[in-house]
Amino acid sequence: MPALVLLGAQWGDEGKGKATDLLGGSVDYVVRFQGGNNAGHTVVVGDQKYALHLLPSGILSPTCTPVIGNGVVVDPSVLLSELAGLNERGVDTSKLLISGNAHLITPYHTEVDKVTERFLGKRKIGTTGRGIGPTYADKINRVGIRVQDLFDESILLQKVEASLDFKNQVLAKLYNRRSIKPEQVVENLLGYADQLRDYVCDTTLVLNNALDDGKVVLFEGGQGTLLDVDHGTYPFVTSSNPTAGGACTGAGVGPTRINRVIGILKAYTTRVGAGPFPTELFDADGEALRTIGGEKGVTTGRDRRCGWFDAVIARYATRVNGLTDFFLTKLDVLTGWERIPVCVAYEIDGKRVEELPYSQTDFHHAKPIYEFLPGWSEDITKAKTFADLPKNAQGYVKALEEMSGAPISAIGVGPGRDETIQINSFLD
Ligand code: GDP
Ligand code: IMO
Ligand code: MG
Repeated sequence: MPALVLLGAQWGDEGKGKATDLLGGSVDYVVRFQGGNNAGHTVVVGDQKYALHLLPSGILSPTCTPVIGNGVVVDPSVLLSELAGLNERGVDTSKLLISGNAHLITPYHTEVDKVTERFLGKRKIGTTGRGIGPTYADKINRVGIRVQDLFDESILLQKVEASLDFKNQVLAKLYNRRSIKPEQVVENLLGYADQLRDYVCDTTLVLNNALDDGKVVLFEGGQGTLLDVDHGTYPFVTSSNPTAGGACTGAGVGPTRINRVIGILKAYTTRVGAGPFPTELFDADGEALRTIGGEKGVTTGRDRRCGWFDAVIARYATRVNGLTDFFLTKLDVLTGWERIPVCVAYEIDGKRVEELPYSQTDFHHAKPIYEFLPGWSEDITKAKTFADLPKNAQGYVKALEEMSGAPISAIGVGPGRDETIQINSFLD
């Protein structure tokens, strides 16, 4: 079982950090392959809580080598402060590897992210303001700055000049902002070079060699399937590919290497930022899910929008990711409801639709068609096996599995490492 992908099956915040950490002790490498510090992955170990943004959650397992792949966008100041924060708490981060091909987020990218959102007004995406979109835009426009550029001062200046040439015109003429001096950006970036040098290598070579040697590699997604720039609810998405294929391009491994794709699936649905969300609740149930589930953004502190489970989305995630398993999280949050609505299909312009519509207009018009499943009131946080769950909780899981199209191999009943029911091993 050499390579597994673990990714978000909904709109992010499904519990990827916890799931990754759980596997971290049994795998040799944990690799982030896309996104950047827009992610906020929570890991709870005993009474310690960690919020990871850029570092793979495997960093908390001493035997695991954490890797930041080429597909990630790296804000060096955030990276260094995250490393320092972990070191202060006694976590050894010396094994970290960073791809020289990963692109750098610089202060002008965060600036452009913020002004773009401001100018979009009510049409804004609700980004995390971390410079993610503008950095990926530069990458695709072939004017990005990569980690390896930190180690060649003259090239760095040329690249920053080329990149700022156009941006300064936009900042000054369109947004009425002060232009940014290339020398200042270069000076700022060079300040990080020595601190990062020892981590940087050809991660593609390291990972492929590791796979040849039979090592186990776990690819940890950020965000989620519906935030994918190709397969998500465009334009209300992030600027990378959090779907399974992103692991190949974002880490430089072939699809033939990957034999398990695990979708992390919350037992209900949440979303942060703007965009369509058919099962969103605006009533007391929504507020209860937010409060009981602690649904507040790890990165921006924004309240998450909450709604019932959407099986149409889960089926879609199975399809576009080729999921082999689901890890169902936060089942404990649903304890106490007499009956739990689950969206099984949509009504769009008077017609029943079973699959996620490809048309943005149709999706905006989608109204959930609910089935109601009987709830349970017993505390399930101490359950260790599927049989420990009350019959109705078992029924809820089985119904979701049937609707979603892949086996539910693990169930989260609390945020801690041990608050997990493992049904099938992910490492067979
Ligand atoms: P990620 O971005 O996918 O890693 O998820 P976040 O960390 O942003 O949000 C998930 C939240 O749910 C975190 O606060 C986790 O500690 C918490 N969590 C994860 N799994 C469970 C679970 O099974 N039950 C409960 N109650 N909380 C969980
Ligand atoms: P994790 O990894 C939830 C959302 C933002 C916004 C959109 C675009 O913790 O699941 P961006 O800053 O990426 O350009 O914002 O994507 N978003 C997330 N929502 N969880 C995340 O990460 C997210 N990362 C980005 O709220 O709607
Ligand atoms: Mg999160």
